[in-house]
Amino acid sequence: MKLVKNFFLLALGIGQQVIQISSATPTLDSLARSVERVESIRDIKDVQRCFAQLAQHGRWADMAALFYDNGTLRWGNETATGPAAIENWLRIDSAGMDGVRPGSLDTMIVENGLVTLSVDGRRGKARWNGLRFMGDGLGGTRIQGGIYQNEYVFSGGQWKISLLKYFPLYSGPYIGGWRTVGGSVPIVPYHFYEPGEDPGVPIKPAIGEPPSTRATIEQLAQRISRMNDEDSIRNIQHSYGYYVDRRMWNDVVDLFASNAVVKVTGVGTYQGKAGVRQAMEQRMGPEGLAQGVLNDHPIFDLIVDVSPNGREAVARGVEVGMIGNANIRAASWEFNVFRTQFRKGDDGQWRMFNLELTSLINADYYKGWGSGASAQGSGVVPEFSGTEGRAAQEYDEDAENKDELDLVDLQRRLSRSAAYDGAESVSVAYGYVIDDLNCGLMGALFAQKGHKSSPFCGFYQGPNHTAEACYTTYGRNRSSGLRTSISFHWRPQPVILVSEDGRSATLRARLLQPSTSNSSAGSFNGAIYHDQMVLENGKWRLWSITIDEFYWQSKNWKEGWAGANPRDASSPNPGPSALFNKYPPEVSLVEIGDREAGFQGAAGRFIQWPEIQRMWFHYRNPVRPDWSLTANGYQEPSTGPSLKNGTFS
Ligand SMILES: *[C@@H]1O[C@H](CO)[C@@H](O)[C@H](O)[C@H]1NC(C)=O
Ligand SMILES: *[C@@H]1O[C@H](CO)[C@@H](O)[C@H](O)[C@H]1NC(C)=O
Ligand SMILES: *[C@@H]1O[C@H](CO)[C@@H](O)[C@H](O)[C@H]1NC(C)=O
Ligand SMILES: *[C@@H]1O[C@H](CO)[C@@H](O)[C@H](O)[C@H]1NC(C)=O
Ligand SMILES: *[C@@H]1O[C@H](CO)[C@@H](O)[C@H](O)[C@H]1NC(C)=O
Ligand SMILES: *[C@@H]1O[C@H](CO)[C@@H](O)[C@H](O)[C@H]1NC(C)=O
Repeated sequence: MKLVKNFFLLALGIGQQVIQISSATPTLDSLARSVERVESIRDIKDVQRCFAQLAQHGRWADMAALFYDNGTLRWGNETATGPAAIENWLRIDSAGMDGVRPGSLDTMIVENGLVTLSVDGRRGKARWNGLRFMGDGLGGTRIQGGIYQNEYVFSGGQWKISLLKYFPLYSGPYIGGWRTVGGSVPIVPYHFYEPGEDPGVPIKPAIGEPPSTRATIEQLAQRISRMNDEDSIRNIQHSYGYYVDRRMWNDVVDLFASNAVVKVTGVGTYQGKAGVRQAMEQRMGPEGLAQGVLNDHPIFDLIVDVSPNGREAVARGVEVGMIGNANIRAASWEFNVFRTQFRKGDDGQWRMFNLELTSLINADYYKGWGSGASAQGSGVVPEFSGTEGRAAQEYDEDAENKDELDLVDLQRRLSRSAAYDGAESVSVAYGYVIDDLNCGLMGALFAQKGHKSSPFCGFYQGPNHTAEACYTTYGRNRSSGLRTSISFHWRPQPVILVSEDGRSATLRARLLQPSTSNSSAGSFNGAIYHDQMVLENGKWRLWSITIDEFYWQSKNWKEGWAGANPRDASSPNPGPSALFNKYPPEVSLVEIGDREAGFQGAAGRFIQWPEIQRMWFHYRNPVRPDWSLTANGYQEPSTGPSLKNGTFS
């Protein structure tokens, strides 16, 4: 039987590097080790997300308890070691901007985690982007942005922070805005390019024989299913966010169970699908975006807890409302917490069942949250999720297990969750290296036949051409020095659809761009990425990066996103970027036709915020079928959405 299986696998080519942790036919012991390693990447991310969620409610002691006994916090040039000292530092540093005092705010965002695991699976390192919006309710405010390069250790059955190292890159008060700290932005060293590291290999192959496991195949199957479930739930919650941005209430309502409940803290409770729609319309307005309307609600730091029985789950995260109407120059901020109970239907489909939205602070953009903010949910602390870790989860003997348990298939199912993290890892790596305009590292993230769109220009294929297009735009000396200004490439809120064989994935992410400068206040832009990733020679690589930009831009910090003026309808289209003539693309945006129409450098009339550009929810290259996943031996995810022609207002 075993021989037959091996033969079958080789024939399909699945024997090679399906999962990065083991290429051999699994044994119970090797599968157990692999399960632990994928769980570890996720547990590390959750510890950090939990740190952020706790900050929002001034839970300094609980935040400090996430550190190892001699763990260290290094915030710029300040240091605290051990939980007691860390708690004390957090409290003093907050200066009353703690989310506890009435009107105060401490929304800490720690996003775009790139986690790598040590060979022995007992240590981890991670890079994160940070943004922290603070206020004391008495007029005092602080906005801080930077990068974390953190370390984690597995101890006593749990992942703990051993080093939190924050590099402050920009900061300032609300009124007047932030500037580059110290006048210039350094290149913060990337742990994922240290010797032996690769962002496409978050889990390095284990060395030696796996230890003998006490877990049964049923227990491992359940742990793998919980990770597969988690992936589905992340995708639904994040898709919900994208639909909310566009006020696509029909699509939002589809995500909910028919007997769902939406509770908006301090406002009301809404029942059933009609109630879901009512809650959305009351909070955010009618279906669709009219010209000049911004309804972005990016989601950050999502933690998903799936119950052992695999029928229920809770997703908790932070939502930031960036809302406006450019027609009347109105704009506001919301700092919200959401907690969604999910249920799995008899059809096996997860649905949102009970959405609890708590708005901590609402503030007029032009006044800020220092004073003049309102707080519906003041004093309410939506229940937190635990950080015991996935391995510690109880086994539910009664949970149905309809599948025939087979080690090879379990390894395949595990490889799909490893793929979710692998795709996210190269996604955020792209953001980090392009922030630093490091064209060489950026090109090397691409698969040999991968391709990338350069904004306002077109597509380039392969690592060499994508790097050359970048060098042509930015010059060859850019990555070496300090910069006084920078536009960051945050890629949060991924929706990652993984193929059945775990070798390819499509990924949608936001492009959220906080910018900073030495001389004037930084601000934000928003756009959307539509990407594909593949496993090539055991490493995750980018197959396709398509940026649709911009959906909105702030005029500047003071006037914000609602300060944008409509383009003169009679002015000519701006045409492609200078790159187009200096280093012509292999496929221009114009050739892509309707799919890119309306973006700068593409076909049709240029559409610029505050006009509403169409938004796409999936992408197949209509011009180069030979660039597709399926033409190159990869599968398309069977769960992917069908091609959809966005929505017009
Ligand atoms: C923390 O403790 C561990 C285990 O005792 C030790 O290996 C490590 O060197 C210590 N780290 C620091 C910074 O003291
Ligand atoms: C620490 O950094 C802050 C700015 O981040 C600066 O104002 C302060 O002078 C620094 N302190 C020391 C001792 O270097
Ligand atoms: C940043 O701006 C400050 C104040 O304008 C100036 O003193 C400083 O030299 C600038 N730093 C750099 C690196 O340009
Ligand atoms: C791309 O290939 C050309 C020709 O081999 C070479 O000169 C150039 O250095 C390569 N560029 C990069 C970024 O690797
Ligand atoms: C790039 O940097 C090198 C070394 O600093 C310098 O010699 C060269 O002139 C620079 N090239 C450009 C195009 O700025
Ligand atoms: C998308 O919609 C526009 C406007 O309705 C239409 O002109 C275009 O043909 C559509 N494209 C596709 C691919 O369906």
